[in-house]
Amino acid sequence: MTTRDSSGQAVVRLEAVHKEYGTTKALDAVTLQIRAGEAVAVMGPSGCGKSTLLNMVAGLDRPTSGTVTVHGQNLGELTETGLALFRRRRIGMIFQFFNLLDDLPALDNVALAAQLTGSTARQARARALELLDELGVADRRDVYPAALSGGERQRVAVARALMNRPALLLADEPTGALDSRAGEQVMDLLMDLNQIGQTLMIVTHDPQLATRCASRLIEFADGTVVAENNLERTP
Ligand SMILES: Nc1ncnc2c1ncn2[C@@H]1O[C@H](COP(=O)(O)OP(=O)(O)OP(=O)(O)O)[C@@H](O)[C@H]1O
Ligand SMILES: [Mg+2]
Repeated sequence: MTTRDSSGQAVVRLEAVHKEYGTTKALDAVTLQIRAGEAVAVMGPSGCGKSTLLNMVAGLDRPTSGTVTVHGQNLGELTETGLALFRRRRIGMIFQFFNLLDDLPALDNVALAAQLTGSTARQARARALELLDELGVADRRDVYPAALSGGERQRVAVARALMNRPALLLADEPTGALDSRAGEQVMDLLMDLNQIGQTLMIVTHDPQLATRCASRLIEFADGTVVAENNLERTP
């Protein structure tokens, strides 16, 4: 499980994944693979199961049936504690709605992710500051989430997701709540990250985000994959 992925190996593998909420079929026989170094965009209408899909890959929720394998680890074999550890160490997640802790300032929201995996407070804060700086919000480091703009909050959330240099970065509408300038910054950052080998899985409604950042587009509808296309990225 701790082996490094070399380019081209499957980082994510879903086989016949079903997810039901009561009578709602959120995922219906999803089979897909994402290889190391790919940037995959998932697009589709509201309610078609995109966030559910991302939550399965992140191990935030479990399928009704089928298997989810991430970095060679079948997530179904992990206990809740095992899943939490796996997520912390291997996966970065940017949520559809900001998930920052209200009672911690921006810098600590970011640094906490590394402290939870054993970094010293000093190391964690240094890296957190570096990331906030790259994202253009270093001057907001001591501000609490309630006093940040939506765009600033999302940039703090992106910084937090990158703290542990995750082998897989998942993003659910990372630019959805941002104005175009802040959105561009996040897109540029995602592009740069992919260029240096970061594997990305991005759920978005924004065709610009998909064509700029993704090397492959997965079209989703009614809980399943309806089309897959390789993309020529438009800078
Ligand atoms: N925790 C839940 N309990 C019950 N139903 C749920 C739950 N989560 C999702 N659903 C349902 O599953 C379906 C898929 O939801 P999901 O959030 O994955 O859609 P989505 O494609 O991300 O939509 P959007 O683009 O609006 O974010 C929807 O019908 C939704 O109502
Ligand atoms: Mg969603």
